[in-house]
Amino acid sequence: MTSRLSSSSLLLTASVALVASLGGLWLLTPPKPLRDRLKGPDEAQGESEKVMDLDVYGEEGWWWSDPEFALMLVNSARIPYFDRTWKAKLPGEPRSESKYVDVGCGGGTATEALAKLGYKIVGVDPSEGAIEQGLTHAKEAGFDGVDYQVGSADSLPFEDSSITGVISSDVLEHLDDLHAALGEINRVLKPGGVFVFDTINRTRWSWLSTILVAQKWLRILPKDAHDWRLYITPAELQQGLITAGFEPSDMSEWVGMRPTLRWPHQGLYRLLFLGKGFGGLMDQWKMCGNDRSASYLGWARKPSVG
Ligand SMILES: C[S@@+](CC[C@H](N)C(=O)[O-])C[C@H]1O[C@@H](n2cnc3c(N)ncnc32)[C@H](O)[C@@H]1O
Ligand SMILES: *[C@@H]1O[C@H](CO)[C@@H](O)[C@H](O)[C@H]1NC(C)=O
Repeated sequence: MTSRLSSSSLLLTASVALVASLGGLWLLTPPKPLRDRLKGPDEAQGESEKVMDLDVYGEEGWWWSDPEFALMLVNSARIPYFDRTWKAKLPGEPRSESKYVDVGCGGGTATEALAKLGYKIVGVDPSEGAIEQGLTHAKEAGFDGVDYQVGSADSLPFEDSSITGVISSDVLEHLDDLHAALGEINRVLKPGGVFVFDTINRTRWSWLSTILVAQKWLRILPKDAHDWRLYITPAELQQGLITAGFEPSDMSEWVGMRPTLRWPHQGLYRLLFLGKGFGGLMDQWKMCGNDRSASYLGWARKPSVG
């Protein structure tokens, strides 16, 4: 009797453990990648539309009310990379006279930082609320090297071959049709012009860190900020750039970047007493060499002739 009881309870425990671990595995498994990331979800192939909330970017106070805003912390890694790349690859191009464009500029976190370095730059974003906040902030801060315009990556409001440098930071992974966006960026660039960007690689690690932990568990990012299927591997992006007419740079010049964490005592204090939320555990971002397993920076040139 006792042995039958214990063997059945053993069986029960084993099945509960099995179901729990299968459930756990399922929770930790990223969705099925798209057949062709560069084209975007193909509904005829049963791939569902992207799940993404783009309205948050227009919300009042989204861009400039918090000096520790997540994208502001990324500036410490990305702005020096973009500036260094443009300086090195566009020698003799005066920053204050040439025209630079920030595609998907939002409220201008990166746009203003580049304007501060002397770039004459126009930010473009489909979110009217974001553009309004960019304009207001630039005016209040007294920047005149920066301007903003409503527009989308797949139809940029600029003439062919009219722009010296294009930046698109933290935007490509929000777009379904990358062929269209990269083609447009190539069209508006002058021959010899330079496109700089950062985006997120589609790895198990980026699923775990940005989707599961940052979006779902700790809510550091808005719930539907990203659709992991739209993340882009460096190889896919190189292919897309070539198709659009670019000469991508060598992969050794594409570098990873990642957030740093605050010291535990600092983080805990901020969490418990300053009500900063889990996002407050994070500090300035830094480059991390050839670790391109999540966010990475890169550049490509529109060829000078042909
Ligand atoms: C994570 S934010 C990045 C904002 C800004 N580049 C920065 O790094 O501070 C993504 C931005 O992409 C913009 N976006 C979404 N769809 C777009 C499209 N089709 N063309 C251009 N920008 C788009 C959103 O409105 C949002 O401002
Ligand atoms: C980027 O993602 C792809 C696909 O998961 C992977 O093969 C590649 O190794 C990743 N790159 C890095 C540097 O982690």
